[in-house]
Amino acid sequence: MVKLKNREQLEGIRTSCRLLSEMFSVLVPRVKEGITTADLDAVAREFIVSHGGKPAFLGYYDYPASLCVSVNEEVIHGIPGSRVLKPGDIVGLDCGIDLHGYFSDAAITVPVPPVSPKAERLMATTRECLDLAIKAAHPGGRVHDISRAVFAHAKTAGFGVVRQYCGHGVGLAVHEDPQVPNYVGSGPNPRLVPGMVLAIEPMINAGGDGVEELDDGWTVVTRDRSLSAHYEHTIAITEDGVEVLTAW
Ligand code: MF3
Ligand code: CO
Repeated sequence: MVKLKNREQLEGIRTSCRLLSEMFSVLVPRVKEGITTADLDAVAREFIVSHGGKPAFLGYYDYPASLCVSVNEEVIHGIPGSRVLKPGDIVGLDCGIDLHGYFSDAAITVPVPPVSPKAERLMATTRECLDLAIKAAHPGGRVHDISRAVFAHAKTAGFGVVRQYCGHGVGLAVHEDPQVPNYVGSGPNPRLVPGMVLAIEPMINAGGDGVEELDDGWTVVTRDRSLSAHYEHTIAITEDGVEVLTAW
């Protein structure tokens, strides 16, 4: 069931999203050669807690960290640890905040320079997928407008589109209905109406579409071990269009 948000709820979600954007503006400059992924998790956690929020992912289905850090062929749900970042890495950072019961969700892929031209093109294309998906969303349209925009742009660029994981409703929980796939399938295709809050999150692979989960029970990698990029915004459908709540 899709839960439409009232004005008061939307204001709470907006504040949570603004805090998440501020967190990313502190976190992203810390992505440098030599830092560990656990260090990045600590930066996120300390920022969130010191601003009165709770890391929304920490403890969610027993996930052990505040941040997902997914490097290179890792697609999503990489667990922070002792891994040291090095030049050429592309680093997906995914985070959510629970601020007084209002949930935000966003992700970005950050390069540790110099990265390959292929990695640059993958990141640019995935960013464009997110931008085009946001432009495709409007009140009166449908969820698959978003799906189609992501899929068409990624495929035109010759990249793989992850199917096993989707965007989703968000705002009063980490994950809510509806699912927001990055391809047009036969699943539900609800109308986009004012009051919907959605996390749109293209996950695009330099190689094939396939992914698999590692033995840690979390980390999702590309099956062919090609690079993968991930960007995500929380948006609200409003009477006049779309508001990007996690814009930075
Ligand atoms: N960020 C993920 C998403 O966008 C959710 C992470 S689930 C967690 O849907 F368990 F890893 F936290
Ligand atoms: Co999400």
